[in-house]
Amino acid sequence: MDAKTVALAGGSGFIGRAIAQRLAASGSTRVRVLTRNPDKARSQLDLPGVEFVQADIARPASLADALKGANTIVDMIQFEGYPVENPRRGLTFERIDYGGVVALIDAAKEAGVQQFIYISGAAADENSTHPAFRAKGRAERAIRESGLTYTIFRPSLVYGPEDKVVNGLAGALRYAPIFGVPGTGRQKVQPVLVDDLAACVTLAVSGRGRNGTYDIGGPDLMTFDEMMQIIMDASGHRRPLFHIPEGIMRGVGGLLEKLPKPVLSRDAVTFVTADNACDIQPLIEEFGINLTPARIGMAYLGKK
Ligand SMILES: NC(=O)c1ccc[n+]([C@@H]2O[C@H](COP(=O)([O-])OP(=O)(O)OC[C@H]3O[C@@H](n4cnc5c(N)ncnc54)[C@H](OP(=O)(O)O)[C@@H]3O)[C@@H](O)[C@H]2O)c1
Repeated sequence: MDAKTVALAGGSGFIGRAIAQRLAASGSTRVRVLTRNPDKARSQLDLPGVEFVQADIARPASLADALKGANTIVDMIQFEGYPVENPRRGLTFERIDYGGVVALIDAAKEAGVQQFIYISGAAADENSTHPAFRAKGRAERAIRESGLTYTIFRPSLVYGPEDKVVNGLAGALRYAPIFGVPGTGRQKVQPVLVDDLAACVTLAVSGRGRNGTYDIGGPDLMTFDEMMQIIMDASGHRRPLFHIPEGIMRGVGGLLEKLPKPVLSRDAVTFVTADNACDIQPLIEEFGINLTPARIGMAYLGKK
């Protein structure tokens, strides 16, 4: 039988690169990265046999062409600056998270793609008042009702040697004498190593988790403060923590979101102070994965 062709929308991003590497190493699939900038993506992910194809969800016509001949699509698209929206540039949860999924479903059907794998988020909920969680929830529903075979993963915070968040926190600890944690520090997080997520996606490509939705987090549920302790231990940069009240952050966010290029918004504050807990039991039963504890998974911080 011919090897499956797997198209990775967002394959040039942090999670996408890990999945491309894992799929390419499996030797049993052909990997196609969909990107707005194939030359740049190739320079970041030069893997033998991986194909790079121009595609932009803002130009739906580019999608069906890019998906021709593919069996599976994995969607990991996210707008620049996430989770701070920039409506002036059309960078919103509704347009990119939800609208992007709808455009990819239409293109997948036109191109004859049979399987849709989606990287959603732990708090996805179509009834949420928060635009990010609502858009992911609506995107999930569109996939379930598409008639395509699907698997949906709902990660908590994803980390790894090339991530922005945990590396960003470790970088800030290196230079700041004290560190300000957003909110109470008691918000729940369950960080998952990107390689564990990539391993599950690879299994899903071969049929595991068919038509299912799975939370995916690490084995340990912790508070944001506890995660900061692990990052400080792993990086060797121990600093006193203090807490920035959510109300103050929202006030600052309300001012900054008016700028042409907002760096903070009220919704982004809610996003980082929300709980991100997972029920990982169904994932473990279906995928048989040994999830990596954060203290082991974050050991790379000590080598930076
Ligand atoms: N990272 C986490 O902790 C985490 C946790 C839970 C859920 N997630 C979800 O996982 C997914 C991937 O996250 P990530 O951290 O890997 O994101 P990322 O590194 O920011 O990558 C985003 C990707 O989206 C692509 N993209 C952006 N706009 C596009 C457009 N208009 N058309 C086509 N492609 C576009 C980019 O490709 P080009 O620039 O090459 O076009 C890039 O490959 C997202 O949906 C995110 O919400 C992430």
